[in-house]
Parts: sequence; structure tokens; C-alpha cells
Amino acid sequence: MKRLAFFPDAASTMAGQVDALFFFLLGVTAFFSLLIAGLIVAFMVRFRRRPGVWPTEKSEPTESLEGSFFLETFWSVVPFGITLVAFFWGASIYAALSLPPEDALQVNVVGKQWMWKFQHLEGRQEINELHIPIGRPVRLNMTSEDVIHSFFVPAFRTKMDVVPGRYTASWFEATKPGEYSLYCTEYCGTLHSGMIGRVVALEPAEFEAWLAGADVGGGNVPVAARGERVYQAQGCPTCHETRGDSARGPSLAGLAGTSVPLASGGTVAADDTYLRESIVSPQAKLVAGYPPIMPTYQGLVSEEELMQLIAYIKSLAPARAAERR
Ligand code: CUA
Repeated sequence: MKRLAFFPDAASTMAGQVDALFFFLLGVTAFFSLLIAGLIVAFMVRFRRRPGVWPTEKSEPTESLEGSFFLETFWSVVPFGITLVAFFWGASIYAALSLPPEDALQVNVVGKQWMWKFQHLEGRQEINELHIPIGRPVRLNMTSEDVIHSFFVPAFRTKMDVVPGRYTASWFEATKPGEYSLYCTEYCGTLHSGMIGRVVALEPAEFEAWLAGADVGGGNVPVAARGERVYQAQGCPTCHETRGDSARGPSLAGLAGTSVPLASGGTVAADDTYLRESIVSPQAKLVAGYPPIMPTYQGLVSEEELMQLIAYIKSLAPARAAERR
């Protein structure tokens, strides 16, 4: 198959499963296409117009056909069964592709017109190039700075939209070292076709060495530490404590992953999306017991900085029980 230029390399743990389903669907489609086309040709020959056979000179009514209960059941049940196989098979692959393993390596991804920006949780940043280790699941936390893009690595058989104002995730586990093409596969403006890059899959040891290296400009600061810088620079500590309880705004200690009581009643899960929303539009889900005094930080912090802030908030340990209660 690799000899066919239009068929991509298979370099992830999911690639074989996706291909198997693809070939199953291709096989089923080919079988029925040939069967139907073959029958059409056969019937054309078998029932062609012949002199003296039909129609006769004086038209006669066509024979009445009763139909066949067996045939109709057969050709309803069999295709139904085949589509159900495709459905459950496809759903199981979709579910596997949608649920990144817990222990996955994490990379933040920001798409913008027209480039891909990556930052590894451990620190390194790159543009239009993503270094990853083989044999280990990699989770991408993705968002867009402007319009919808879509992150597509054919060799890994993973494709996920990158949407402004929302976090989407994608994951893969590369199986062999090499360089693989990365595409934006959602039309996003003039240079959409130029929004490409490459994924460099390395042996684990090589990857560790790469990860420990420095970026152009010498930086290699973990995402959470960058988040703390943003937290300080934007003046967040004025209202938000990171250890104990704070007076003006809710404490950030151990906030991520908890359930937050809202002023409007009910609760909300403090996931990435909620944390982001609370920074860019603080009044959207006001925490119970606090006045609506926080200004919006929309436009003041970039999408990357928002991701860094969220990583910082997630890195904060819960406050001691006595302080929290
Ligand atoms: Cu970004 Cu197309």
C-alpha cells in the first residue's frame, strides 16, 4: 500500500485500526457497486427488446407481481446489519481517538492565521514543527487565536478542529521515528494552504535530549512557570490568592478540577474551558459569594498566555482543609 503515493504512511497506534475500517467500507462499497452494476448489465442483456417477444404489437397489461416477503426482508436486514457493523466499529474508533490517555505527554497548540504554535508542558516552544517521542501517547490541548483551523496529521490518522474560544483535544502515539506532514485542513483564509508543518517523531532518549535543549532565544520555561509570570504581570495576586483563601476574589488554590458554586445557583466544573471563560468574561459564571468586580482580560492576555495561566492554576495544590472550610 505504501507504494501508492496517495496513501499516507501509517505511523501511529490508531493508524492500523482506522485503515482496517476504511478498507472494510471500501470493500463493502466495491462489492455492492459491482453487484448492482453487474446486475444492471445482465438484466439489460437478458431482458432486451427482441422482435416478437415484448412488447407485442397490441399492448397487453403487465403481469401483476406479488413481491416476495423473503427477498424484501433479506435485502433490508442484511444492509442494516452491515451499516450497524460500520457504526459500532466507527464509534469505537472515534471513542478511542476522543479519549486521550491520562498519562499522555501534553502539548499546548495555538492555531492562528497562518501558523501552528506549540508549547510543551515542560517548556520548549516551537512553530510549525512538533517534536514528539515514539511509543508514548501525546495529548494536544488546542485552541485558535482567530478562525477555525483543523489539525491533521495523515500518518497518525488524527484530525481535530481548532476552534476560537474553545479547547479541543487530540492525541496519538507514534510508532516509528520519522518526519510526518502536518496540515491545516479547514479553509482559514488566503494562506490556508501554506499553514503546514511537520511532526518529528524521535526515539525516547533523543526526545528527552531535545526537550532539555533551549529554544531560539534561549528560553525553556515550563508552561506553568510562564503562567505564574502572567499571573504576576497582570496583577492577579491583588484579588486571587494561590495558597489560602482570599478576600476579594475566589482563591485559586486547588481550584482546577473542583466543582464551583455559582451566584446564579448550581455549580460548574472548573475545567480548562471554565477557567478560560472566567478570565476573558468574568461575569459569565460568577462564583457564589463574590461581587461582580473583576474586569475582563479579553485582549490583554493572548491565547497562549491563557493556556499558561490555566496550567499555572492546575499546578497549584489545594489549600489546607482548615483554611478552605
Ligand atoms: Cu488554518 Cu486552514
